[in-house]
Amino acid sequence: MLLELSGITKRFKNGTKYQEILENLDLRIYEGDSIAIKGKSGCGKSTLLNILGGLLPFDEGEMLFKSRNISTLTVNEQAEYRRKNVGFVTQNFHLLDDRNVYDNIALPLQYLRLPKKLVKSMVESVLYDLEIEHIMKRHISTLSGGERQRVAIARAIVKKPAILLADEPTGSLDEETEEFILKIFDKLHQKGMTFVIVTHDDTVSSHCQHIYELHHKKLRLFRGVASEINSLKDEPLVL
Ligand SMILES: Nc1ncnc2c1ncn2[C@@H]1O[C@H](COP(=O)(O)OP(=O)(O)OP(=O)(O)O)[C@@H](O)[C@H]1O
Ligand SMILES: [Mg+2]
Repeated sequence: MLLELSGITKRFKNGTKYQEILENLDLRIYEGDSIAIKGKSGCGKSTLLNILGGLLPFDEGEMLFKSRNISTLTVNEQAEYRRKNVGFVTQNFHLLDDRNVYDNIALPLQYLRLPKKLVKSMVESVLYDLEIEHIMKRHISTLSGGERQRVAIARAIVKKPAILLADEPTGSLDEETEEFILKIFDKLHQKGMTFVIVTHDDTVSSHCQHIYELHHKKLRLFRGVASEINSLKDEPLVL
């Protein structure tokens, strides 16, 4: 098992009141899994993803990564966990606006202190895969939303993380680019990468093995949604 969440409860303090977002939530993620998470706006999807990525503490429960308890690690050890294992495509990308595309993608590899030559070849390979070589020298502030999204995906996958967490990764892409990104995700999945993708898009979730809905502070499994969608297409229309 790659990640195991048991009894996770998360509250935010808003003014003097506590708002409970997740309550006693359980989730098991095995190596090579691909998981889609759906749910209404504000139900806590990004909160859950931030917890999975070790970016946000929680109030109750336990999270184990390869049997290691993440919540008992020091701040530095948690940062190390993220750097080594987690690729993150956040909802607002978190790219460095005043740097160029190349530097943004190279950053996670520099944190890992990899040799310069290796960094260059890994960045070039992902620039090529995502068909963004032509914009590698451009500053992020000059890019369109869809271009930024592709750069954010490139930065998240460049170190070939054990787990890729993606918050609406195709939200501002046209259909053709979305299909292209999904093909890249499929390829990475075939190579064994584990995915958790927050998405409202049925095309994206139909590429995942497991589809959950975050509802009433917990996850519930949508069994066979992908296959239902596919089988519906093949069903003759009976009126
Ligand atoms: N740092 C914070 N402090 C206080 N409240 C927060 C904080 N972050 C999130 N919330 C609240 O927690 C709830 C869940 O937020 P979250 O961003 O996880 O929702 P979401 O499911 O990702 O929504 P969306 O689909 O709109 O992105 C919301 O009510 C939000 O206002
Ligand atoms: Mg969100």
